[in-house]
Amino acid sequence: MVVNTSRSLLYTLCREAVSFRSELRFYKSAFVSRQVFHCQRRTYSANGTKTSLSPNICSSLAGRSYKELYELSVEDPDTFWGSIAKERLLWNRPFDHVNNCDISTGRINWFPGGQLNVSVNCLDVHVAKHPNRVALVWERDEPGTEVNVTYRELLESTCRLANTLKRHGIHRGDRVAIYMPVSPLAVAAMLACARIGAVHTVVFAGFSAEALAGRIQDAQCKAVVTCNQGVRGGRVIELKATVDAAVKSCPSVRSVFVAQRTSNRVPMTGIDVLLEEEMAKEAADCSPEVMDSEDMLFMLYTSGSTGQPKGIVHTQAGYLLYASLTHQYVFDYRPGDVFGCVADIGWVTGHSYVVYGPLCNGATTVLFESTPVYPDPGRYWETVERLGINQFYGAPTAIRLLLKYEESWVKKYDRSSLKTLGSVGEPINHEAWEWFYNVVGDGRCPLVDTWWQTETGGVCIAPRPAEDGAEIIPAMAMRPFFGVQPALMDETGAAITGNDVSGALCISKPWPGMARTIYGDHQRFVDAYLKPYPGYYFTGDGAYRSKDGYYQITGRMDDVINISGHRLGTAEIEDALDEHPGVPETAVIGIPHDIKGEVPFAFVVLKEDDSLDHSVVIEDLRGLVATKIAKYAIPDHFLIVKRLPKTRSGKIMRRILRKVATDETSNLGDISTLDDPSVVTEIMQAYTRFKNQPAQKR
Ligand code: WTA
Repeated sequence: MVVNTSRSLLYTLCREAVSFRSELRFYKSAFVSRQVFHCQRRTYSANGTKTSLSPNICSSLAGRSYKELYELSVEDPDTFWGSIAKERLLWNRPFDHVNNCDISTGRINWFPGGQLNVSVNCLDVHVAKHPNRVALVWERDEPGTEVNVTYRELLESTCRLANTLKRHGIHRGDRVAIYMPVSPLAVAAMLACARIGAVHTVVFAGFSAEALAGRIQDAQCKAVVTCNQGVRGGRVIELKATVDAAVKSCPSVRSVFVAQRTSNRVPMTGIDVLLEEEMAKEAADCSPEVMDSEDMLFMLYTSGSTGQPKGIVHTQAGYLLYASLTHQYVFDYRPGDVFGCVADIGWVTGHSYVVYGPLCNGATTVLFESTPVYPDPGRYWETVERLGINQFYGAPTAIRLLLKYEESWVKKYDRSSLKTLGSVGEPINHEAWEWFYNVVGDGRCPLVDTWWQTETGGVCIAPRPAEDGAEIIPAMAMRPFFGVQPALMDETGAAITGNDVSGALCISKPWPGMARTIYGDHQRFVDAYLKPYPGYYFTGDGAYRSKDGYYQITGRMDDVINISGHRLGTAEIEDALDEHPGVPETAVIGIPHDIKGEVPFAFVVLKEDDSLDHSVVIEDLRGLVATKIAKYAIPDHFLIVKRLPKTRSGKIMRRILRKVATDETSNLGDISTLDDPSVVTEIMQAYTRFKNQPAQKR
């Protein structure tokens, strides 16, 4: 595994990524067909010429157009963010300055001097005004069994849970792992941490015991909150058993809080606490801890180009403000709307657009526990009809899956409540975009392709907001959000000017939602994001700026792949595979997949040992990835090769592996730096033999 963030390498990778992606079937038409949709938006001003964005971005900025607001946000961020922060958040102490950032050294401080509590901003302020408004609609796995939770009820359970945590010795600054699927108690657990100043790290409940343990150890969590079992797609998932296996190697964990999602009993150990029983004994109020703007709110582990996942740190005020502002303006959320983001809380989308953004805005937010095809492929749209969802935010992978079924699965349900559709996590191809827009949205709802990352805290590039009636180009993220100034960089590290150009996507000024550090390793944060292009935040993605100045994301420039919208470093998979005693070396790449977007393809070198049965080794390798990471990370293909293509300096030339695995060997590009070019023919032959095998053997 090679980690090299030098610019020329990044740039080469970028160009590679750009050409690689543009080869993918579903990207083909991206630059060719330029169908423009003018989506109708409500008009906010009566004068007919200049339309203001919204009456309530903040009173001192009211009446300004999108263009004026965007210009202000990048030219005078202090006025822009300062006015909004003062008005939209409830502060215990006002901030002294709007920002004190130096992006080149990694000092990112927003609203220093300010003090507040995030749970108060998400709950108490709304309970004071409308206690009986529904905060959460828990759309449980079985259709028709949804549960509504009002703001008052959510505040009460958050306080009871916060008191339970405190009683078990969790204090301000302590880390708490949450390993549960989306549910009102999971949301209450996040907010309870925020209430007492503890730091949550939600771990996606599909991760293995080892992956969970690695995160708990890195964060030194004092407690884990989980469920006895999970329920998804009609199947029961043994969550508590996974936690039991994980905490065996986590001496920092003193308590495991177990919520009862099913009525089945699971074995309990000495450190286990029955969550609901304990909560029932606690008071329904809990005085909120007063937090500094830059205290940690949560960390969320994500993948980079090395094997070790990184704990991305977000802090209080800036994150919350950015999540709430993007939630309102990207999706055109209006008071009273039912906001349906179907992401799991194990990912950042669940943090910002299931929990913090919507709740800070006093919205009704949907917690979707099921799958797009349970009990049938009409599930999403039946849910839209039954709950009256107004904004539907999902992942392209689900759309690609659903469009393969008859349109009648969509059409038989009433979708007239829908006003905005959103897509996130990976590029959305044209076919999926148009199906989502035309079939689901009946061609009348703006569809926003939103680009952002765990590290950005909220949406950074999306078609909305924009001037009233402004165009939306299919499958393009298009416009930067307030305060975000994208830049495309060339291989010399200079910003590329003009349009119709591609380069490494950077953001040239700090914004309140950006990550502050990597937990326990600030230098890694600086090296990964701020050093490659000094003075800029480097996203790891490549992008194209169109003739009209709109942005289109072309894909990762590093060895990170996106499986069904789930981000994973190929190095993580390689590290898992390399544990096999018969496997000295592997290289994993991503190849296109119709539904999942990308899937891992593993090239495996075996020890010279005639006794090794290849199919047994491959089974072992699958098992290793499932235990060390998660089932979804298991490579779809394993190809056994004698050696890997390496440069004279020992770097694996993954470009060649990608070309081989996608049948694009007619133009391999420059292979003169390979140590031994004959390796290419060798690998191509192995691939031909592999392709000719029956599918189940690959
Ligand atoms: C990719 C998810 C194209 C991108 C919110 C990014 C996208 C990574 C889009 C972050 C999009 C996300 N178009 N690519 N609209 N949205 N990506 O951290 O490569 O799980 O860097 O955050 O997903 O994934 P993450």
